[in-house]
Amino acid sequence: MGAVDAAIVTTQMMLETANLGLGTTWVGHFDPEAVVREFELPENIIPVAILPIGYPAEGAEPNPRHFERFELKDTVNFI
Ligand SMILES: Cc1cc2nc3c(=O)[nH]c(=O)nc-3n(C[C@H](O)[C@H](O)[C@H](O)COP(=O)(O)O)c2cc1C
Repeated sequence: MGAVDAAIVTTQMMLETANLGLGTTWVGHFDPEAVVREFELPENIIPVAILPIGYPAEGAEPNPRHFERFELKDTVNFI
Protein backbone atom coordinates (compact mmCIF):
# COMPACT_ATOMS: atom_id res chain seq x y z
CA MET A 1 0.00 0.00 0.00
CA GLY A 2 3.05 2.28 -0.09
CA ALA A 3 2.13 3.86 -3.41
CA VAL A 4 -1.42 4.49 -2.17
CA ASP A 5 -0.13 6.14 1.00
CA ALA A 6 2.28 8.28 -1.02
CA ALA A 7 -0.53 9.38 -3.34
CA ILE A 8 -2.74 10.35 -0.39
CA VAL A 9 0.05 12.32 1.27
CA THR A 10 0.99 14.05 -1.98
CA THR A 11 -2.63 15.05 -2.60
CA GLN A 12 -2.90 16.52 0.90
CA MET A 13 0.36 18.43 0.34
CA MET A 14 -1.08 19.86 -2.89
CA LEU A 15 -4.27 20.95 -1.10
CA GLU A 16 -2.24 22.66 1.66
CA THR A 17 -0.09 24.33 -1.00
CA ALA A 18 -3.25 25.83 -2.50
CA ASN A 19 -4.48 26.85 1.00
CA LEU A 20 -1.25 28.83 1.39
CA GLY A 21 -1.91 30.68 -1.87
CA LEU A 22 0.82 28.82 -3.73
CA GLY A 23 0.73 26.74 -6.89
CA THR A 24 2.13 23.32 -7.68
CA THR A 25 1.74 20.38 -10.00
CA TRP A 26 2.37 16.69 -9.58
CA VAL A 27 5.48 15.50 -11.37
CA GLY A 28 5.53 11.73 -11.57
CA HIS A 29 7.61 11.12 -14.67
CA PHE A 30 11.25 11.10 -13.57
CA ASP A 31 14.13 8.76 -12.91
CA PRO A 32 13.94 7.97 -9.16
CA GLU A 33 17.59 6.92 -9.02
CA ALA A 34 18.69 10.23 -10.52
CA VAL A 35 16.61 12.13 -7.93
CA VAL A 36 18.16 10.12 -5.08
CA ARG A 37 21.60 10.87 -6.49
CA GLU A 38 21.11 14.59 -7.23
CA PHE A 39 19.33 15.39 -3.94
CA GLU A 40 21.65 13.10 -1.97
CA LEU A 41 18.69 11.23 -0.45
CA PRO A 42 19.22 8.12 1.69
CA GLU A 43 19.56 5.01 -0.52
CA ASN A 44 16.43 3.42 1.01
CA ILE A 45 14.21 6.30 -0.21
CA ILE A 46 12.24 5.67 -3.42
CA PRO A 47 10.82 9.02 -4.59
CA VAL A 48 7.40 8.73 -6.22
CA ALA A 49 6.40 12.37 -6.68
CA ILE A 50 8.00 15.80 -7.00
CA LEU A 51 6.05 18.95 -6.16
CA PRO A 52 7.59 22.11 -7.61
CA ILE A 53 5.99 24.91 -5.55
CA GLY A 54 5.83 28.61 -6.28
CA TYR A 55 3.67 31.67 -6.64
CA PRO A 56 1.47 31.40 -9.73
CA ALA A 57 2.20 34.06 -12.36
CA GLU A 58 -0.23 36.96 -12.35
CA GLY A 59 -3.18 36.11 -14.58
CA ALA A 60 -2.19 32.43 -14.75
CA GLU A 61 -5.12 30.26 -15.74
CA PRO A 62 -5.55 26.47 -15.75
CA ASN A 63 -5.31 24.72 -19.09
CA PRO A 64 -8.78 24.92 -20.74
CA ARG A 65 -8.95 21.11 -20.64
CA HIS A 66 -8.75 21.34 -16.83
CA PHE A 67 -12.49 21.92 -16.83
CA GLU A 68 -13.31 18.95 -19.08
CA ARG A 69 -14.60 15.99 -17.11
CA PHE A 70 -15.47 12.40 -18.02
CA GLU A 71 -18.99 11.32 -17.25
CA LEU A 72 -19.10 9.55 -13.87
CA LYS A 73 -20.21 6.37 -15.66
CA ASP A 74 -16.89 6.41 -17.58
CA THR A 75 -14.75 6.26 -14.42
CA VAL A 76 -16.90 4.47 -11.83
CA ASN A 77 -18.46 1.01 -11.99
CA PHE A 78 -21.74 0.70 -10.14
CA ILE A 79 -22.41 -2.97 -9.38
C1 LIG B 1 -0.06 11.08 -10.96
C2 LIG B 1 0.29 12.33 -11.74
C3 LIG B 1 1.53 12.43 -12.33
C4 LIG B 1 1.88 13.58 -13.06
N1 LIG B 1 3.11 13.67 -13.61
C5 LIG B 1 3.45 14.77 -14.32
C6 LIG B 1 4.73 14.89 -14.90
O1 LIG B 1 5.57 14.00 -14.78
N2 LIG B 1 5.02 16.03 -15.58
C7 LIG B 1 4.10 17.05 -15.71
O2 LIG B 1 4.41 18.06 -16.35
N3 LIG B 1 2.89 16.97 -15.15
C8 LIG B 1 2.54 15.86 -14.47
N4 LIG B 1 1.30 15.78 -13.89
C9 LIG B 1 0.39 16.94 -13.97
C10 LIG B 1 -0.65 16.80 -15.07
O3 LIG B 1 -0.01 16.84 -16.32
C11 LIG B 1 -1.67 17.94 -15.00
O4 LIG B 1 -1.03 19.15 -15.21
C12 LIG B 1 -2.37 18.01 -13.68
O5 LIG B 1 -2.86 16.73 -13.34
C13 LIG B 1 -3.52 19.02 -13.72
O6 LIG B 1 -4.51 18.53 -14.57
P1 LIG B 1 -5.91 19.23 -14.63
O7 LIG B 1 -5.68 20.61 -15.13
O8 LIG B 1 -6.72 18.39 -15.58
O9 LIG B 1 -6.45 19.22 -13.23
C14 LIG B 1 0.93 14.64 -13.19
C15 LIG B 1 -0.33 14.51 -12.59
C16 LIG B 1 -0.65 13.37 -11.88
C17 LIG B 1 -2.02 13.29 -11.24
